[in-house]
Amino acid sequence: MKFDVERARAQTPGCTQRIHFNNCGAGLMPTPVIEALKTHIDLEAHIGGYEAAVAADDKVQGTYSAVARMLNCTPQEVAVVENATRGWDMAFYSFHFAPGDRILTCSAEYASNYIAFLQVARKSGAVIETIPDDALGAVDVDALRGLIDDRVKLIAVTHVPTNGGLVNPAAEIGQVAREHGIPFLLDACQSAGQIPLDVQALKVDMLSATSRKFLRGPRGMGFLYVRQELTPALEPPFLDLHAATWVSQNEYRLKDDARRFENWECNVAAKIAMGTAVEYALDWGLEAIEARIGTLAGALRQALASLPKVKLQDLGARQCGIVSFTVAEQAPQAVVQGLKERGINLSVSRATSTQINMHQRGLEAVVRVGIHYYNTEEEIAQFMAALEEVIAGTAA
Ligand SMILES: Cc1ncc(COP(=O)(O)O)c(C=O)c1O
Repeated sequence: MKFDVERARAQTPGCTQRIHFNNCGAGLMPTPVIEALKTHIDLEAHIGGYEAAVAADDKVQGTYSAVARMLNCTPQEVAVVENATRGWDMAFYSFHFAPGDRILTCSAEYASNYIAFLQVARKSGAVIETIPDDALGAVDVDALRGLIDDRVKLIAVTHVPTNGGLVNPAAEIGQVAREHGIPFLLDACQSAGQIPLDVQALKVDMLSATSRKFLRGPRGMGFLYVRQELTPALEPPFLDLHAATWVSQNEYRLKDDARRFENWECNVAAKIAMGTAVEYALDWGLEAIEARIGTLAGALRQALASLPKVKLQDLGARQCGIVSFTVAEQAPQAVVQGLKERGINLSVSRATSTQINMHQRGLEAVVRVGIHYYNTEEEIAQFMAALEEVIAGTAA
């Protein structure tokens, strides 16, 4: 079925202003999401923040149901938190590691996650090991199998790394993890909203994601999925009167479900609007979204490959809407700046975000484009013309 790009663009006010190829930074919010945010802020202004939260409780609950529908889990298995990192942290820091315990991760794991590994390894004596990549740069699932022993206490991998088009084989990793009863934590920050995410099919135990990127929700929101069977054993690092109940002077009781990973105060408007963004993505259909993004990203890669000075840097057999490249003799930052001056939003991904992977490949930074379904072939053509100017050093 043809993707209704005209409707997508009519519902995306931001795309009339400039070419937005920074969906891996933050996607443009569509009209229903913008309306949901504004409506709740207006309600708060008129009747009071606490009163508005009560009045809009159906919508708040709707966010849990929407995320649960997208992930194929129950609403009780969803925690709504400030961002992907906080969700990931709440899961990761709930584990207790002993000296010699092994944490297996991927070469392109996100910096914030790796910093948490380092902190916990330093305090606990656990060791962090990188699963080797296959010939195309994705996690090598056979190599993973070879690493498994009874000291492996966690497999934590990024689905779509921040530095390029790679989609790691999450379901195959999940299969290995499940066979051996090892908890599997997936960072789906860059995949949520551009790829279908079925936690049963992926066999993940925990999954974190953000609202603002390919899901096109507001900033400052994210969520964490935790499989119900695991929850009773996981005590989050921070608790408050929402995550737990103070039952007597010396005793508290944790919530039974994923609410134990949340905290009480939150941006209710953004919480509701994230639910709207998930509904909106589900209405388009995540298979249809992935297919549309695949067509556009494929066309962009093909066009980039025709420029002699450009080197595509995307890894993996399965690729997504992030397109990464370098330009001979030009710093990625300078290329991005030149394109910004021509009305095109995009970004640089630096080695500090995915150090191991970037250094393995001798890269300090790449130019990063994040294509979404509301982008067009015409925008790609304009982007290519602008890039050729930047490469040639023509004034903007
Ligand atoms: C792979 C990956 N994980 C995690 C994050 C962090 O997400 P957040 O800023 O919502 O915490 C990012 C952000 O760019 C990311 O690309």
